[in-house]
Amino acid sequence: MTYEQAIATIENKLQAIKYPAQAAELYEPIAYLLALKGKKVRPALTLLACNLYQEDIEKAVDMALAWEIFHNFTLMHDDVMDQADVRRGQPTVHKKWDENTAILSGDAMLILAYQYVAKTGAHPEQGVCDTSLRELLDLFSTTAAEICEGQQLDMAFENRLDVQEAEYLNMIRLKTAVLLGASLKSGAIIGGANAQDAELMYDFGVNLGVAFQIQDDLLDVYGDAAVFGKKIGGDILANKKTYLSVNALNTTDAILKKSYLLWLEYNAGEATKIDNVTTIYNRLGLKEKARQAMDSYFQKALKALEQVNVPAEKKSVLKQLATDLMNRNS
Ligand code: IPE
Ligand code: IPE
Ligand code: MG
Ligand code: MG
Ligand code: MG
Repeated sequence: MTYEQAIATIENKLQAIKYPAQAAELYEPIAYLLALKGKKVRPALTLLACNLYQEDIEKAVDMALAWEIFHNFTLMHDDVMDQADVRRGQPTVHKKWDENTAILSGDAMLILAYQYVAKTGAHPEQGVCDTSLRELLDLFSTTAAEICEGQQLDMAFENRLDVQEAEYLNMIRLKTAVLLGASLKSGAIIGGANAQDAELMYDFGVNLGVAFQIQDDLLDVYGDAAVFGKKIGGDILANKKTYLSVNALNTTDAILKKSYLLWLEYNAGEATKIDNVTTIYNRLGLKEKARQAMDSYFQKALKALEQVNVPAEKKSVLKQLATDLMNRNS
């Protein structure tokens, strides 16, 4: 199976979801967000991980859908928390509707995601479930709780000037990376991987996810809004702690640090603040430093994938997808 085939499978299934007719306004924003062009990385990882062990990936489709729906739920709430107006080049749900809608439709999405997990490995006609369902539910719940923890740290860090790189890395591991790890691990479990391989797939995903979030931080400053689909400079305006901002705060260059701290407090014009903070990042060489950090996590990810006990040619699709993700601009 290729990445394109995985995406097509997921997109078809997402489009075919039938929402209840009752309280239709609850489901409209869900259908809206799910129909916007996203990369579908997480469900693709689940299907491709299953495909390492089985030709037939059908058993992994519901779990893959659960991850994508869950991911979109986190985006719906994240955009409220981050006061973001644009997502995938379109108005965010709380802008198109309102914040209450984003809260409740997001809640309904989380429930929908659990319903898809529960379908995985269930054989209602026999009144039984595969034993792996319990493991998948635990993985899903643990991951979801960690993402909330990561989001809490992300919000709390906005008000701190003393965040260290290690704290930042832990925050992004929680808010972003564990979801990639769990998506891969669940596919491996459904495919029948042994515990050691399932854990290696998790490590592959977590390291890839850390690199993925550092890149998201980079694109938030250096990306092209038309391709990235989100506002450029949003993290700078929100005083988010990113790979770039944490390194600017902890620089030993006293003059640039002082100047950076002054710009952090500047509230008079969005474009001026974004321009000046970006100039400081440039002068500190942080774009290059971030690319190096990304690459070091990417290499760790590849090491874990290499150790997975499956012939290398079978793993080449995942290796290529990971490589392409490191060169993405959206
Ligand atoms: C956005 O995820 C949230 C982050 C973890 C950075 P993606 O970049 O995968 O977003 P979509 O689903 O492709 O839009
Ligand atoms: C990504 O954080 C993590 C989650 C959405 C849980 P961001 O806030 O950086 O994601 P974007 O940039 O809005 O997609
Ligand atoms: Mg956020
Ligand atoms: Mg955000
Ligand atoms: Mg971001």
